[in-house]
Amino acid sequence: MAGLKYLSGFGNEFSSEDPRCPGALPEGQNNPQVCPYGLYAEQLSGSAFTCPRPANKRSWLYRILPSVKHKPFSPAPRGHLTDTWDQVKPDPNQMRWLPFTIPASSETQVDFVAGLHTLCGAGDTRTRSGIAIHVYTCNTSMVDRCFNNSDGDFLIVPQQGELLITTEFGKMLVEPNEICVIQAGMRFSVDVSGPSRGYVLEVYGAHFELPDLGPIGANGLANPRDFLCPAAWYEDREVSTGYTVINKYQGALFTSQQDYSPFNVVGWHGNYTPYKYHLENFMVINSVAFDHADPSIFTVLTARSTRPGVAIADFVIFPPRWGVADRTFRPPYYHRNCMSEFMGLIKGHYEAKAEGFQPGGGSLHSIMTPHGPDTDCFEKNTTSTLEPERVAEGTMAFMFESSFSMAVTKWGLETCQRLDKSYSQCWENLRSHFNPNWRPSKQ
Ligand SMILES: [Fe+2]
Repeated sequence: MAGLKYLSGFGNEFSSEDPRCPGALPEGQNNPQVCPYGLYAEQLSGSAFTCPRPANKRSWLYRILPSVKHKPFSPAPRGHLTDTWDQVKPDPNQMRWLPFTIPASSETQVDFVAGLHTLCGAGDTRTRSGIAIHVYTCNTSMVDRCFNNSDGDFLIVPQQGELLITTEFGKMLVEPNEICVIQAGMRFSVDVSGPSRGYVLEVYGAHFELPDLGPIGANGLANPRDFLCPAAWYEDREVSTGYTVINKYQGALFTSQQDYSPFNVVGWHGNYTPYKYHLENFMVINSVAFDHADPSIFTVLTARSTRPGVAIADFVIFPPRWGVADRTFRPPYYHRNCMSEFMGLIKGHYEAKAEGFQPGGGSLHSIMTPHGPDTDCFEKNTTSTLEPERVAEGTMAFMFESSFSMAVTKWGLETCQRLDKSYSQCWENLRSHFNPNWRPSKQ
């Protein structure tokens, strides 16, 4: 949608007024006795009041009606959303999913919220510790319905179809190869323009941050100025037929009715906002001598746990780049990890598995489960001539990496019918190259 305006920066103290109402933000204070234009002041707290300044998150919304004016919440069907992790027995096997099926609009109309399916996760919404990975498949826009997640933050990765997301802070257009984060408590509604599919990483009780850069220095990876948050936009719209607010709370869904649009925020200021980021803006850093940096070098955003250096979840990408490492097996190394690795593919072919891992599908390599390049990839890359080459051109794979040991849901294992049972065969033909008579070549 042309003409949308954004504010640039990550976690800044932003302020924004809908241009139709200049001066909507009170000057010099948050709670005047009477707000400009007769608006209500409402604070949205994204952190405990007492968090230290670097972690303190809140925004002030100046709105036509406060969000408390609504009918009581009542339970609603949760579809394939879940936060219970014992639906099926634990399974440590490598898993791969074919592209998740998007329902045909001629058969059934499914919007973004109705199209959310929980694939795997761990932890507990009540104790505010854990994650969930969802897949969304939908074909129609949300009409007079918005979503509000009381449990955590959504990092949304569209794979097919652009999302026009209306939030209390304004509108964002998020296309495949962009991501957005809608943090806990922010109401939003999603318009789609056709069959749409993507991935959602939900974290409970933490917010995404930019990773520290250490010796990299002050610049690089995802630069703060490339994050965009919406500019204030409001509608003063009565909805006599009822506007539905869907609330995800303790893993369950609830709905409440109100007779007006919740997107009635005329101005806002603060540092707790939704935002988006284009993955093409990622400044890729990697080895220019030999060997690999660990994939953490590709971290876009991290949700930290309380353990130093250990993430609840990292969002990591594998963008197009140059491969130049000398005397090196350049594809990803064989690996067992104390973290869980969920991977998805937005477009193109993933370098370690040219076949089988398709855009809109996924894979899960659980804690300490071995994984790595398939047989063809290994054989090809141990004999290829090493020259500077473009890697991952035209592709974008990503990883949600978590310190939680994730359980797969019944939907993921059975109901979706997309589990690729042949996945482990891609390593079956790996053969021994061991030669006990090998000796170092004389220089
Ligand atoms: Fe790995």
